[in-house]
Amino acid sequence: MSVVIPIKGAHPWSGIPVPEGYQITPDGVFRVESNNKVREKIAGPVWVGAFTHDKLNNIYGVVIRWIDRKGDEQERALSADILHEQGNTLAQRLARIGLKITNGKEQQLIKYLGSFEGEIPWISSAPRVGWLDSVHGRLTYVLPDRIIATDQSERVVFQPEQHSPTTRTIRPQGTLDAWQDQVAQPCRGNPFLIFAVCYALASPLLKPARLEIGGIHFYGLTSRGKTTAAQVAASVFGCGADPSDAAEHAYIQKWNATGNGLQALAAAHNDGLLVLDEIHTCDSKDFGAVIYNLASGIEKTRLTKDSGMKERRTWRILVLSTGEISSRQKIEEEGQRKSHGGQLLRLLDIPTHDEIIVDTHGMDAGSFVQKLKRDCGEHFGTAGPGFIETIVQRFPDASALSAVVMRELETCERLLTLPETAPEQQRASRRFAQAKVAGRFACEYSILPFTREETDSAVRAVMKAWTAPTSPIVCAPHKLCKLLFSGTGRAFVSGIPKMIKCASWSVTSRMTYSCSPLMASTRQRAAMIQKMSPVNCTSTDFSSATARM
Ligand SMILES: Nc1ncnc2c1ncn2[C@@H]1O[C@H](COP(=O)(O)OP(=O)(O)OP(=O)(O)O)[C@@H](O)[C@H]1O
Ligand SMILES: [Mg+2]
Repeated sequence: MSVVIPIKGAHPWSGIPVPEGYQITPDGVFRVESNNKVREKIAGPVWVGAFTHDKLNNIYGVVIRWIDRKGDEQERALSADILHEQGNTLAQRLARIGLKITNGKEQQLIKYLGSFEGEIPWISSAPRVGWLDSVHGRLTYVLPDRIIATDQSERVVFQPEQHSPTTRTIRPQGTLDAWQDQVAQPCRGNPFLIFAVCYALASPLLKPARLEIGGIHFYGLTSRGKTTAAQVAASVFGCGADPSDAAEHAYIQKWNATGNGLQALAAAHNDGLLVLDEIHTCDSKDFGAVIYNLASGIEKTRLTKDSGMKERRTWRILVLSTGEISSRQKIEEEGQRKSHGGQLLRLLDIPTHDEIIVDTHGMDAGSFVQKLKRDCGEHFGTAGPGFIETIVQRFPDASALSAVVMRELETCERLLTLPETAPEQQRASRRFAQAKVAGRFACEYSILPFTREETDSAVRAVMKAWTAPTSPIVCAPHKLCKLLFSGTGRAFVSGIPKMIKCASWSVTSRMTYSCSPLMASTRQRAAMIQKMSPVNCTSTDFSSATARM
């Protein structure tokens, strides 16, 4: 005697023309004789709910729906070729995700699913997450579990080419309010953490801002909060758990993958943030090439089994990386290679020292970090989608969004750089400007519980860390300068003669010049530091100071 699976709600397959020779009931799918006499049970209730078409790549598919073993309705969009694969691939896949299949009836199931035709709805499919190109310029952003679109009338479904890791990692848990209280609020007073959130939110703006792919890399001593900062960023889009605790579900991925694996990860995070932890674990012998590949936005040429060319996957991402060593050290690790400016520009090395965790909100530092790490794994995946949803609601189409983002970006870039800044520095600064724009938008949209001043100054602080000296020879004078520019130091500085202010600038600029990988000239670098510093020297003060260097 068969057990009827309890189905929650009305029969969801009603209206779908079931192929001749089959019958679908709450008990499952049966093969029937022409006189309607039941012959055999094939599987639990399963049917084709829609046909799909990816217009851009001209790929067809099916949306398979079924009632799982717990009585819940599920669906997966799959490309049509899976109905013609050798073996029981489709049956195995569906069994893994909850469809009860009668042993030995796997081929019957595939035959049944391949026989659907007639009055079945057609919907569009998207092979990857991120912005969906539309001929009408309508804004549509694809997430594994939902589609955020201006035009709700056109149904779009996420249909990845292969298994996508983001199906498990990009998802919401809890509410935006809870994320703001438990994750964002504790970031207050910690510029690196606020920056991490703004940087994550900047990733969907890459396309509208027509910006290039790039990344930043937080590096420094162990147990200083680097992975915690990455978790905070990850929690914007998905599960912010520490990857060492929840590798299966964590949004954060580890660098310990091959070049091909990293490319697949990049493609899976299109128009979003790719977080890579522990740089030293990267397998690749040529880390410099890995950086170039990730930043190229297109997969290396792949061959099919019969030596044809495989379609190459593309992506547009921001990378947030962490580790104990800098990317420069990683490139030069084997002692055989020298890092190039182009590599360092694509993944900006930012030393963290003790600056990630500054304000522990009255708790001891260890407990504060551990609580924040836990909360990133409990409340997540709401701020990013909420941010995109507001963008989609506010802007009529892609060009209107682009115009505003690019205008804001130009303003923020002007605030962070000088007209005479060298082109490579300008390119690098654009990554910070982008985080600044995202932070401003997100504050205005009430996604972030911060003020615009807080996000602006967080971006300035991290950019300053990027330009700060890292060599031990200059650390002592740097600490002195840090003291001078701190809250009390600033009050002190404002009262002393301009001459001393200029002298301190001169010291900072000299130190910075000696350590910078990217700054072309002393004058430019010093000018940039001046711009980011809370101490306001006039340009005349500044010129006379730098003239003496
Ligand atoms: N600023 C801090 N002060 C005190 N303890 C901290 C601080 N930052 C991190 N920790 C401790 O270190 C643990 C690991 O934190 P996290 O993973 O963020 O460190 P990390 O900088 O990534 O270290 P690693 O380089 O070893 O990966 C935390 O659970 C906490 O106990
Ligand atoms: Mg870590």
